[in-house]
Amino acid sequence: KNDVPTTIVVFGASGDLAKKKTFPALFHLFEQGLLPKRVSIIGYARTQMTIDEFHKRATSHFSPDAKKDSVAAFLKVCNYVSGKYDVDADFQALRSEIDGHERAANISNECERIHVYYMALPPSVFVDVAGQIKRNVYDETCTNRVVIEKPFGHDLESSRKLSHDIGALFDEAEVFRIDHYLGKEMVKNILSLRFANVFYEAVWNRHYISNIQITFKEPFGTEGRGGYFDEFGIIRDVMQNHLLQVLSIVAMNQPQSLGAEDVRDRKTEVLRRILPLQLEDTMLGQYVGTKDGSKPGYKDDDTVPKNSITPTFAQCVLHVDNDRWRGVPWVIKAGKALDEAKMLIRIQFKDMPNALFPKLARNELVIQVSPKEAVYIKTIVKEPGLSTSLAMSELDLSYKTRYHDVKIPDAYATLILDVLNGDHSNFVRSDELDEAWRIFTPLLHQIEKEHVQPMPYEYGSKGPDGVYQFVENRAGYKRTSLEYHWEAPQ
Ligand code: BG6
Repeated sequence: KNDVPTTIVVFGASGDLAKKKTFPALFHLFEQGLLPKRVSIIGYARTQMTIDEFHKRATSHFSPDAKKDSVAAFLKVCNYVSGKYDVDADFQALRSEIDGHERAANISNECERIHVYYMALPPSVFVDVAGQIKRNVYDETCTNRVVIEKPFGHDLESSRKLSHDIGALFDEAEVFRIDHYLGKEMVKNILSLRFANVFYEAVWNRHYISNIQITFKEPFGTEGRGGYFDEFGIIRDVMQNHLLQVLSIVAMNQPQSLGAEDVRDRKTEVLRRILPLQLEDTMLGQYVGTKDGSKPGYKDDDTVPKNSITPTFAQCVLHVDNDRWRGVPWVIKAGKALDEAKMLIRIQFKDMPNALFPKLARNELVIQVSPKEAVYIKTIVKEPGLSTSLAMSELDLSYKTRYHDVKIPDAYATLILDVLNGDHSNFVRSDELDEAWRIFTPLLHQIEKEHVQPMPYEYGSKGPDGVYQFVENRAGYKRTSLEYHWEAPQ
């Protein structure tokens, strides 16, 4: 497959996403020899720039130890076309550029070719550009793939409109909706853990599991992105997409095969069994500046309205109403400006049903997505030595110590590779997206209509008061004694 001539057009090539994620990921694949041998990359954006300026920008976020000759070889296949997002002639010029490259490389339009249109664009120009591509660039003689980035609308209705508008232009098979969490190593690992090991699947249900938490914490605020963020808030920014996607993989039943449609069918099935989220099952927060003034509050950001009620923190309980999960609370939590950077899935098992030993603590299986990928199982052992008491320990699979030489790729690199291979399994299908919005939209509308005030929490704290009591009271989570800590290996 690696020899199918491929053109990748990156729209929004001068923007932040392209600079920080798309081009570094393309370069990573190029360096590893994973881009097709005959590849041509074309950046497209409004900014007028020379090719050198474009190259400088595209490489601005490459790792400092990127090899100079690899970068030079990569830039040889990267060109730039500037054009507006609503002018037919500009897109026709782009088409000529693509055709010109193919002619120059002796690639006839009778041979198999792939054209990828990667839209690293703000939502305001999204549909216009999709229309322009279809009208003026789309080539019926080759395979066309369109990559789109969130936000996919801001509620159920707007998302349906967007899906409808995109669906009128491209087949679902041509569309790749990125949720970059689906490209993360440990998220991709969930299916293997669950369905390639006999002992996980055996206890993966309401008979053994007490509660599940999916947690996303960032130690910084909206720094510079307040304008974008204020329109969305943490529920739309992280929960409705990243965390719900992770939930659906942890909760899904075994797919018929690893084929994209089988996997996505099972994920969608789970989402269908989740009732819309209620306000009373939700805790909302917004960060304020630190007492010593060293860190600003959310509303101190100049791009945020002074009366904003946008949540920067949310924690809620969801229920999956099917035979596997009925009665098991799922707590999803996401917050900015908290005490640490962490993304993990914590599965807490029920108490051991015998009276042989005192109940020291519950088993937990923790899948740490970031930082420091790890899977560990909190396990009770006999205290080593002459003592016969119990001690809390862990079976620990920390990637850093187990896989010394493996460099975990950025999520974008693995996802772009999937696009090149035409594999949809790690992309969001339109019916999945629809279900995800169905779960969150009533709550989002209620918050806006009733001006529900978020609770304040200090920048760098663990969140609003009562954040842990919520998990204990609402989900039956039992804390392991405070003396026990799992330490990531140094
Ligand atoms: C993005 C959100 O989708 O995900 C950001 O818009 C968030 O607000 C980011 O910071 C987190 O991604 P990662 O890969 O850094 O965990």
